[in-house]
Amino acid sequence: MSGLFIAFEGGDGAGKSTQANILAEQLQKHSFRTVLLREPGSTTLGDYLRRYLISDQPISDLAELLLFEASRAELMADQVYPELEAGAVVICDRFTGSTVAYQGYGRNLDVKQIRWLNDLATIGRYPDLTLLLDIDPAIGLERAHNRLFQLSLPIGDTSDRFEEEELLFHDRVRRGFVEQWEANQKTWHKIEGNQPIDVVKELVWSKVSPMLPWDGVVANTV
Ligand code: TYD
Repeated sequence: MSGLFIAFEGGDGAGKSTQANILAEQLQKHSFRTVLLREPGSTTLGDYLRRYLISDQPISDLAELLLFEASRAELMADQVYPELEAGAVVICDRFTGSTVAYQGYGRNLDVKQIRWLNDLATIGRYPDLTLLLDIDPAIGLERAHNRLFQLSLPIGDTSDRFEEEELLFHDRVRRGFVEQWEANQKTWHKIEGNQPIDVVKELVWSKVSPMLPWDGVVANTV
């Protein structure tokens, strides 16, 4: 039996983590074996790499790319493959689409080579459904900063190297996501991120629900 693999993608402040959590709760309520993961992270090695990757410590663009891929390779081996094998619904907060968008479009690294590295790290297993929460970067970044403000955390101390990038970088990242959606309409679905949480939640559920193994069999069409 093989499970269902769902990824959330989008720019900073688009609401991915909120929606990934809501979806995981909904699935658990319906008694589906559910695993919620995030990239980078969700393994011992991944959490270790995450601390460096989202800090403001120096790193070259190529090393950054390879560390995201290393975190992903570990996640596939440690979590994604075994859980899918066990029939779980695996939800991943960011996946290969983020590398294409941030390192490819954002940092201007070669997208063909990134795709090759993505194939290598995933051993070719991509999400059955990718939900792109699309948001104007100016709004997304403001939301991300407000989130820190609400947590009473000083922005300079806690925002990551990507949130510190200029708006033009985030505009390129957004284009990277949208172009992936345009090129992969069978498995990618775009949702306007700047809507009330409950509205986005319903849109997410309307896409996920038909794919669930209600009768013990995972549907493979979106
Ligand atoms: P995170 O705190 O998870 O951001 P968010 O809450 O916005 O999802 O930090 C992860 C950061 O890493 C995010 O800014 C995007 C970036 N990233 C990449 O640049 N490449 C990647 O392959 C991945 C997975 C993330």
